[in-house]
Amino acid sequence: MKKIELNNHIEIPQIGLGVFRTPSGEVTENAVKWALEAGYRHIDTAWIYGNEESVGKAIKASGIPREEIFLTTKLWNEDIRQRKTREAFETSLKLLQTDYVDLYLIHWPAEGYVEAWHEMEKLYKEGRIRAIGVSNFHAHHLETLAESSEIIPAVDQIESNPYFNNQALIDYCHSKGIQVEVWSPLGGTGGTILSDPVLQAIGKKYGKSPAQVVIRWHIQRNTIVLPKSVHQDRIIANLNVFDFTLSEDDMKQIDALHRNTRTGSDPETFNF
Ligand SMILES: NC(=O)c1ccc[n+]([C@@H]2O[C@H](COP(=O)([O-])OP(=O)(O)OC[C@H]3O[C@@H](n4cnc5c(N)ncnc54)[C@H](OP(=O)(O)O)[C@@H]3O)[C@@H](O)[C@H]2O)c1
Repeated sequence: MKKIELNNHIEIPQIGLGVFRTPSGEVTENAVKWALEAGYRHIDTAWIYGNEESVGKAIKASGIPREEIFLTTKLWNEDIRQRKTREAFETSLKLLQTDYVDLYLIHWPAEGYVEAWHEMEKLYKEGRIRAIGVSNFHAHHLETLAESSEIIPAVDQIESNPYFNNQALIDYCHSKGIQVEVWSPLGGTGGTILSDPVLQAIGKKYGKSPAQVVIRWHIQRNTIVLPKSVHQDRIIANLNVFDFTLSEDDMKQIDALHRNTRTGSDPETFNF
């Protein structure tokens, strides 16, 4: 698995299993188990997904040493608004049955995010988190943080897929040394991207599925990709993207699918 170095010099595997909309209990436990068996060493959850306990249980049951797995969770908006960063972090750790996380993210730029960041800086310095970052931050949110903070976020986790490539924000983050993780990389649950004829035609050329083509496109844009699936065959296939390279022309064809249509909420107008 290819790894990317973060701005504090720790490494993150370039593909992680996403577990949004993955019900707690057997479904999450199986998805994480299959992913770890397939070679994933990076899991992306969040307190709001309601499955941290199942993620923790599956990691423990795998027998894989904790330090070999890169584990991310996220601070929810209500905890940001109520200035409960530390309490929320302790709750997540307990649910995950671990004493540290590799990456802790501010989930959305909710009111109070600067104070939340300062508390996360403290947790990072205390050695409770290996890297801290943000999610759904636009350039102006990152600039606001930079004005009053010591630590530059290690990552910004943002929406990106062929219909909404978010390229300008990715370029901005990369120019600041912030790595980008892409969410809904396949267009999200219920999306239609994978039936796009351009992706199907490119897939045929390489003997790969449209999902593998899209994941490979993200990899070649130097982003960290978090595909979600609850099916073992797809979990395995989504990691099987390191044995081919999309040509420059195919990369451009996928870039050209951009329609500027989001599948998720806009960080400027989200209301939760
Ligand atoms: N920070 C944020 O605000 C935020 C927001 C959204 C998501 N995320 C993160 O990003 C992760 C991924 O985003 P997402 O879950 O929205 O969507 P996604 O990964 O783009 O797409 C998931 C959908 O694609 C299907 N799928 C997966 N692999 C496939 C394959 N090989 N062939 C065909 N279909 C396939 C899945 O179905 P099955 O499960 O039925 O296989 C599911 O319906 C999340 O799980 C979460 O970790 C973060």
